Amino acid sequence: MSASLPPNSAFLIELRERLGATTVLIGDDVPERNRNDWSMQNPTKPLAVVRPVDAQGVSDTLKACAAAGVPVVPQGGLTGLCGGSRPEDGWVALSMERMVGIQEVDPASATLTVWAGTPLELVQRAAEEAGFYFALDLGARGSCAIGGNLSTNAGGNRVIRYGMARELVLGLEVVLPDGTIITSLNKMIKNNAGYDLKHLFIGSEGTLGVITRIVLRLHPKPLCTMSALCVLPDYASVVRLLGAARRGLGPLLSAFEVMWPDYWEVVTQRVGVRSPLRPPENGDGKEVYVLIEAQGTDESIDGPRFQHWLEQLMEEGALSDAAVAQSVGDTQAFWALRDACAEFPTVLGQNISYDIGLPVRDMADYAARCKAALAERIPGCGSVYYGHIGDGNMHLVAWVPGMPLGQQPKEQMDEVIYGLVREFGGTVSAEHGIGTAKKRWLGHARSPEEIALMRTLKAALDPQGLLNPGKVV
Ligand code: FAD
Ligand code: LAC
Ligand code: ZN
Repeated sequence: MSASLPPNSAFLIELRERLGATTVLIGDDVPERNRNDWSMQNPTKPLAVVRPVDAQGVSDTLKACAAAGVPVVPQGGLTGLCGGSRPEDGWVALSMERMVGIQEVDPASATLTVWAGTPLELVQRAAEEAGFYFALDLGARGSCAIGGNLSTNAGGNRVIRYGMARELVLGLEVVLPDGTIITSLNKMIKNNAGYDLKHLFIGSEGTLGVITRIVLRLHPKPLCTMSALCVLPDYASVVRLLGAARRGLGPLLSAFEVMWPDYWEVVTQRVGVRSPLRPPENGDGKEVYVLIEAQGTDESIDGPRFQHWLEQLMEEGALSDAAVAQSVGDTQAFWALRDACAEFPTVLGQNISYDIGLPVRDMADYAARCKAALAERIPGCGSVYYGHIGDGNMHLVAWVPGMPLGQQPKEQMDEVIYGLVREFGGTVSAEHGIGTAKKRWLGHARSPEEIALMRTLKAALDPQGLLNPGKVV
């Protein structure tokens, strides 16, 4: 324990006496990991980190901070990309890291009740061990926490079939900024008894309440997975393929991920992931790559059906080439090409990442105009494009080679990228949230009336403005 404590920490010493010395870490004892999130800005100096083990501990913390007038930031796995879980100097970080574990699996309701700090991967595994499937999946699965996933309404790889995190929740326990515990661990799919309050907290990035327990909705475990990596001559063919996949695969369609040629070049040439496809003959550099996945219930029926569907498309000339996974290893190899974006900082250097939403038909026009505008406005600026296009969600990263993160011209990039988003009628965040990184741009995606209503809700639930202030709105 450090000898010198910050001057305004008397209330924390009282809290430490109540919750214990492993729960409340003050001043220099705050671990490095609680000082930042994956937005990779400079680490800060929070007053303390509090790591309660239940809703009562969260409530005690929020009450103590409210009485002292000290801001609090909820923290899950700290993989958020927008600064939402990063404390400011002098704040208290309220970490869910010790609220971990599965409370119950209820096979009759097909639900799983879990503590908010539980890593997503552990939730997926517990569902599988119980003979079910928890459908949320994203690259940060090993580190992100389910409470963080809900607070950002995370999307990820299988939204096209199962929806965003919001669709996978039936009940919540939440602690309000004044310390009131709302236990609403509903397990019923249908419950229209008044306002559905859980939706206030899902996607509000820890600004309205702290989620402590969650009732999750489980799905039947898929008994077979079919996947194909396709190359198409242009984006218009991709849009036709998406329509064909929706019609031909129906409810089995579970992923439709698109990679533009610039992305493909980086992951195959610079990251060095092996491509199962031959280089296109007479390619003109406009080829687009699509990873399609379908989940079925009977390999002997669904496997041949998938193969037949794809062969028909090949015969019709809808695809330039395709590889169908013959094994789990093949499927993993296909996804390795899509997940290789996690290596961008290593091969491209520091970069700024975006998660915009756009009408599906306009994606290619957007990408072409954005690439050109970035290169024209910012000398040397590179950009690559990919994403969950079946959900209308494009990712892009932009960077000026060799420049440290703090010197990357983020403001200019934002102006180009979000200016075009507004022109195309899109959104500045499809899945990662607003945090602090996109706060300035909220008005490009929401009307003044919508933002005013958000502020009304914030003021009603957090009149002192102490829960994650300055984030989102
Ligand atoms: P944190 O970063 O800890 O917190 C995020 C926000 O939620 C903060 O505002 C925080 O204050 C709040 N919060 C956290 N826990 C609680 C709680 N219990 N109660 C109230 N508020 C809380 N996101 C996607 O949507 N799709 C992807 O495909 C995807 N892929 C990613 C891949 C990588 C490699 C990385 C690093 C990130 C990716 N993300 C993705 C972003 C990130 O993983 C998600 O936003 C994730 O849901 C954040 O969870 P977390 O537990 O790390 O949250
Ligand atoms: C992805 C993250 C960046 O989809 O959201 O890879
Ligand atoms: Zn994503």
